[in-house]
Amino acid sequence: MKTSIPLLTPYKMGEFELSHRVVLAPLTRQRSPGGVPQPQHAAVYYSQRATAGGFLISEATLVSDTAAAREYFGDVPGIWAPEHVDSWRPVVDAVHAKGAVFFCQLWHVPRRRRQEEKIMQQVSPQMSFDGRREELSSPRRVAAVDAPGVVECFRAAARNAVDAGFDGVEILGANAYFVSSSNAGAEDDDETGGGGIESSRSRIRFATEVISAVVGEVGAHRVGIRLDQFSSSTSGDLAAAGAGAEEEEDLALEIVERLNGYGVLYCHMIEPRVAGRRLGLSRRLAPFREAFGGTFIASGGYRREEGDRAVGEGYADLVAFGRLFLANPDLPRRFELDAPLNDCDKATFYGGGDPAVGYTDYPFLAS
Ligand SMILES: Cc1cc2nc3c(=O)[nH]c(=O)nc-3n(C[C@H](O)[C@H](O)[C@H](O)COP(=O)(O)O)c2cc1C
Repeated sequence: MKTSIPLLTPYKMGEFELSHRVVLAPLTRQRSPGGVPQPQHAAVYYSQRATAGGFLISEATLVSDTAAAREYFGDVPGIWAPEHVDSWRPVVDAVHAKGAVFFCQLWHVPRRRRQEEKIMQQVSPQMSFDGRREELSSPRRVAAVDAPGVVECFRAAARNAVDAGFDGVEILGANAYFVSSSNAGAEDDDETGGGGIESSRSRIRFATEVISAVVGEVGAHRVGIRLDQFSSSTSGDLAAAGAGAEEEEDLALEIVERLNGYGVLYCHMIEPRVAGRRLGLSRRLAPFREAFGGTFIASGGYRREEGDRAVGEGYADLVAFGRLFLANPDLPRRFELDAPLNDCDKATFYGGGDPAVGYTDYPFLAS
């Protein structure tokens, strides 16, 4: 693509030569019965969104089999067993056939989560992604004794992902999932999470162990991480959110600084505004962008104009699009032509009926 549109300019992310900066954000689709991706649908879905030199991040993919994951998140894919590796392989091949780079998002669901925490569409513990207020409890701890086992699950899953052909992995540390920097308020202190300063130290230690294990297994050039830091600041307004939010922000900043020590390829962060009313480009990620030495990806509520501004002004290297990319499989082309965009259909975000509906049936621009 020859263009002056910032989002459509090339970018070198480590060893990957990207031809544009429009990234597919991770999107859970719940269309993997028994945890096994269905190549006949998933390969079509991902390859529809693949372009030569594009960058795709998979839906959150479980690193281990926990009861909570099975109970609360039906039909999400895994990457811990040989059958998962075998089923992902043709999906990855289909994406590579189009010339795109494909990372697998690694996700762990703590063994004990409260029933009311089950919604996946949330982007923070307090707020669903479309801005509805939810009365959600804080993430539950994972017993200290589990921590080494979970680290090992991340390590093995990263190896499996690379064996399946993925170009790398993204550790899901956002949305209050386990490695999150934004677990403030959890009730129990232990090795892996919980409230208060002490447990913040534990969370940093645990996150560091996961990052270290995954980097040691597949190499830092194949590892990204997704973080958020504004879970208690649903409006993006730190003053209103109080001291807890500042602590969270400090915690996230500390994790970002540690990533540099490992040479992690990219840091992917979610804008606070997605958790509340539309605030415009908040620049709230700027301190993280400055602190991190590698590729910085911003996401959450972006449209073309703001994405162009973010890249043009150096606020982000890449911008990940969720709902827009879901509804517009040819999103980079639509941006190039400034073409109208399809709306997404919330009713079919997650699986249930015909797997193709709301998955592989969003229309492309007429050529
Ligand atoms: C249907 C749906 C599924 C999502 N699944 C995930 C996921 O698996 N992992 C993740 O980190 N974020 C997930 N998110 C959050 C998105 O990656 C993204 O941050 C959010 O939609 C805001 O970006 P957008 O305004 O471009 O849609 C999901 C969002 C939606 C709408």
